[in-house]
Amino acid sequence: MKFDYETGIVVNPQAPADSLEAKQPYIDNGTGTRGKDCYFSREAMQQEWERLWPRAWLIAGVSSDAPAVGDYFLFDIGSEAIIVARTEAGLKAHYNVCPHRGSRLVRAERGSRARFICPFHSWKFDLEGKLLAVTDRETFREEVICHEPGLTSLACEEHAGIVFVSMRDDPPPLVAWLGLPEGYLEAYRIDQMKVVRHVRTEWAANWKVGVEAFYETYHLHAVHPETRGVMADLRVQCDLYANGASRMIVPIGQMTPRIADQDSLNDGLRMMLASVGLDPAAFEGRAGDVRPAIQQAKRARAAERGVDYSDFVDGQLTDSWATGIFPNVQIGCHPEGVFLMRFLPHETDPERFWYDTMTLIAPCDHPDYKVPDWMGLPEGTDTSGRVRPLCEVYTAGQDGNLGMVLDQDAGLLPVVQRGMRSRGFKHQLWSEQEQRLRHFHAELARYLDGAK
Ligand code: FES
Ligand SMILES: [Fe+2]
Repeated sequence: MKFDYETGIVVNPQAPADSLEAKQPYIDNGTGTRGKDCYFSREAMQQEWERLWPRAWLIAGVSSDAPAVGDYFLFDIGSEAIIVARTEAGLKAHYNVCPHRGSRLVRAERGSRARFICPFHSWKFDLEGKLLAVTDRETFREEVICHEPGLTSLACEEHAGIVFVSMRDDPPPLVAWLGLPEGYLEAYRIDQMKVVRHVRTEWAANWKVGVEAFYETYHLHAVHPETRGVMADLRVQCDLYANGASRMIVPIGQMTPRIADQDSLNDGLRMMLASVGLDPAAFEGRAGDVRPAIQQAKRARAAERGVDYSDFVDGQLTDSWATGIFPNVQIGCHPEGVFLMRFLPHETDPERFWYDTMTLIAPCDHPDYKVPDWMGLPEGTDTSGRVRPLCEVYTAGQDGNLGMVLDQDAGLLPVVQRGMRSRGFKHQLWSEQEQRLRHFHAELARYLDGAK
């Protein structure tokens, strides 16, 4: 079968051209690659530290983690540590460092404070970062502290329930910088969602290897063969947006085209039917009818379950809209909840990264509502949204309790990282199923080359 990469795969040919579902025009990022040094070398890591991380908008967290004045959370990236605090004037971000002798100011990952008190010599700062008190002030010569040293602040903005910070003095306007169409993230009402699980694991690979693996479905058949019955890995619509953003629509409730028999139901599809109240034994359609049947069933029972799908097209009721925000984020978007995944560079080692994933759900008090099983929350997870769980941190090699699919990725990515080191490997060769990788790297190059 000939594959026309400029047309690509279109999940819903009926989608209006101006809708969020519509296939975006192809962006030609060429066929070259940048070589492989950027995955190992300390120079490349340092270059990213000079040209990328301090120049991008970065996702520091979510608005619902600091809903009231005084609430704060921490965001660490590399050797930078940042406090995001809710003040009377909105969210503010400060470097989490005391101007006196450089101690970290706050250690608990989140909480609520009327002011910040340094653990070293008890200097006090308000939520805005202003210096409130110097302990034993009279013992300082006035010229040392007469400039009233407060916390160093950085740009902080909220958009669609997500909190962004930038270390740049003059960051570009956030919403345009994100590159996503207007209303794209807003539709999910992430501002009303709550974090019900937060896991951070250390993986033995460069952070870009993480981004790349999550930006394509090409590896599903080999690494995650269990998904073949319910995920149409080859029928994935890839969309490239401005500024390195991208999206893939992965049809779910539809088997991979790699299976010869496209008509017979399988256990995965039967389970999906049952999960929306349809009796698989009584289902008369063929396998290809399951996905639309699930969409219709969800819509039909929405009102009685207390959920509102009116802002979503049918495809969003089943499929994963995996949305990439440059440089290091992918959001798995669903009306019932989102998976916010950040690929954070390791502090010192270019061959390690932190995979940080928050599961947010739209809390629903309706007695008949149940958080869908596919969200993968462990038994006993509190889904009320009333208690914000602590971040669970695992180091490399430990069972990260991430679930089968992610454990499969966690097992493989170090193998890729090690393999790429070989002199027998020159550079990556990307298919058009991997066009999001190329798009990401094209934007990254603009930063590293100084064009952005
Ligand atoms: S380092 Fe903070 S008060 Fe001394
Ligand atoms: Fe994977």
